[in-house]
Amino acid sequence: MDSIKRIAFFDSGVGGLSVLARIAQVAHALGRSDIQYLYLGDTARCPYGERSVQEINQFVGEIVSWLDGHAPDHVVMACNTSCALARPAAEQVVRKGKREILLDLIEPTAAYLLEIAQKSGPHDKIKINVGVMSTINTARSGAFGKALRKSPDIFKGQVKELGCPKLVPLIESGRLQDPDIASALDEALVEYLEQLAGTTHLILGCTHYPFIEQQILDLARGRLAHLFADGLVTVDPAVALAAQMTGQTYKDIHAIKAQVDYSAPAFTICTTGDTNAFDLAAARCLSCRKIKSRHVSLGHFAPKPATNALAFPITLL
Ligand code: DGL
Repeated sequence: MDSIKRIAFFDSGVGGLSVLARIAQVAHALGRSDIQYLYLGDTARCPYGERSVQEINQFVGEIVSWLDGHAPDHVVMACNTSCALARPAAEQVVRKGKREILLDLIEPTAAYLLEIAQKSGPHDKIKINVGVMSTINTARSGAFGKALRKSPDIFKGQVKELGCPKLVPLIESGRLQDPDIASALDEALVEYLEQLAGTTHLILGCTHYPFIEQQILDLARGRLAHLFADGLVTVDPAVALAAQMTGQTYKDIHAIKAQVDYSAPAFTICTTGDTNAFDLAAARCLSCRKIKSRHVSLGHFAPKPATNALAFPITLL
């Protein structure tokens, strides 16, 4: 993390802000208040969860090309669906041989779970039954399971990957506190968690879900506790990524709770959709008073390497 000065993130909507918030809090706790953040939520085309691979490749190409044009040191694919389906498309766009590095969420998550699996020897029994809640696309790709099974000597557990398409629209509404949305969320979570009975380690495999982590845990440890007799812990890929970036443990990163002002000039937050709706949802998700996003139009950005890079913070019209 020492070398980072400008870091860019993208997602289909507000979900990737959970990744930005995690990295910003860790950076803040490490005394790195000098980092600039650029975020793009492609709200105009959200959700990505059931779009075709071709569409997602095209969108990711356009977005990474736009972010790349602002000379970040790192681009974080803060969207598991994009990581699972379109990493090669993103790789094609990022400038080769420069400081910039493309980061995704799947490999660090698998690395963290493999660490846990390694500890589960015959004398130190840690039971691992991995469940993944994600978009339909990510679940169909089997990306998390594939990453874990690359180490068959270490990981011998079960992986069940479940598409949960009802969740993103509820989170994007920015109205999770409203009784009708809260009850729709509760109903959807019960439906999904019932299908993941027996899970011990639940990967929040869509970056929107850390914003409903408490609701998931309340159900899994309360009303639905009988389905999770061995206990259930959530695994947030953003925590695994931050742990990998800093060399700290998952537990240490998870414990960091720094107060970050996301309306400070260090944060340039953009959306391809309606800024008012985005600001409302973003502020609720980040539990902050105000987010002031800027509108960006994509579609005319060809997915090819950008030249004449502009540094951020940026001024957009
Ligand atoms: N937040 C995204 C992910 O992590 C995508 C959600 C969606 O657009 O369906 O997969």
